[in-house]
Amino acid sequence: MTLAANAAVASALTATNAVTHSASGRIFNFSAGPGCLPEEVVRQIQDDVLNIGGSGIGILEHSHRGKVFDKVLADAFENFRKISNLPNNYKMLFLTGGATTQNFMVPANLKPQDQTADYITTGYWAEKSIEQAKVYGTVHEAATSKDKNHSYIPADSDCKFSAKPAYVHYCSNNTIYGTEWHRIPKTPDGVPLVCDMSSDIYSRPMDFTKFGLVYAGAQKNLGAAGTTVVVIRDDLLERTPRELPLMLKYTTHAKDESRYNTPPVFAIYICGLVFKWILKEGGLEVMGKRNSEKAKLIYDVLDASKFYKAHARADSRSLMNITFKCPTEQLDDMFIKEAGKLGIDGLKGHRATGGMRASTYNAMPREGCVVLAQFMRDFEKRNG
Ligand SMILES: Cc1ncc(COP(=O)(O)O)c(C=O)c1O
Repeated sequence: MTLAANAAVASALTATNAVTHSASGRIFNFSAGPGCLPEEVVRQIQDDVLNIGGSGIGILEHSHRGKVFDKVLADAFENFRKISNLPNNYKMLFLTGGATTQNFMVPANLKPQDQTADYITTGYWAEKSIEQAKVYGTVHEAATSKDKNHSYIPADSDCKFSAKPAYVHYCSNNTIYGTEWHRIPKTPDGVPLVCDMSSDIYSRPMDFTKFGLVYAGAQKNLGAAGTTVVVIRDDLLERTPRELPLMLKYTTHAKDESRYNTPPVFAIYICGLVFKWILKEGGLEVMGKRNSEKAKLIYDVLDASKFYKAHARADSRSLMNITFKCPTEQLDDMFIKEAGKLGIDGLKGHRATGGMRASTYNAMPREGCVVLAQFMRDFEKRNG
């Protein structure tokens, strides 16, 4: 972009966002992903892009097999393990292709053509997952929440599993609909559980040993777009139900510790900074406590309101993505525009639900939720 074009964008932004919330001019970004990053992480990135660790070379320019990146990667692995208490019989991988690539890598690596895999479909992303699994033979939908536009999480008694599935797959937080599993689904004994945790990984304490495989795109709670974290139990690495190109096999990436080819060095580096930030802040206990308090600020407004309508059923509410509507689409538009003027951005809901969605990932400060809750009350008073 030319300097003139840059200036034009800057002045357009200033015109719409009269209020900023930090000395650096940053506003509250409630985007569902890529989402906000901790400001101190962004500042560290600024420095390291120019010259990381006094090496005289920026992080984007170092060889992925050089000493500087060796340390970045080793620290990221170590800190991920520390945060999640990951036992030695699990590998953690940094892969590419987004969480979407896991929709086919999971069945390709774990599901024999003639054995079924069970899927619980509680939203858009879970539906994408089951669709891709069909490429690898039969699948079974154990439960779905489609009957009520994915506004709830099914009870264990609603999940009907097949006789001997290769695995059970579910999505723990439904980013678009704003619902979240507050328990791990009860599945048949001995069947590995696979979870798409893209939008709630590290939002609270979690026990990875309950899972055979977990995956999460990094661009919400872990860092920036460009890498997907996969956690896989060793015994599942041994499953090789079919011939696959090397790039598509988990064993390839596990053997080469995520450096079979040039990995997404920048995205991994940012994950590494976010992991350090989580540890410094006190780990997942602290994240969980903060996230519950933040979400409560907004859900309290929804509960007290006759104006807003929440999408998610109360027992299925997400702590990460809060979905709600005003009485009319016109009011939704007004809400989003007025919020923008107050430096509250990223609230437009997905077309599947309409209305608004406030994503309150780890890096969203409490102050952002206080400001949003106050604006919601004020908007209701003026328009209710
Ligand atoms: C729960 C969930 N799964 C999967 C995806 C797809 O991720 P990606 O865009 O990294 O492929 C998203 C994206 O928002 C998501 O929220």
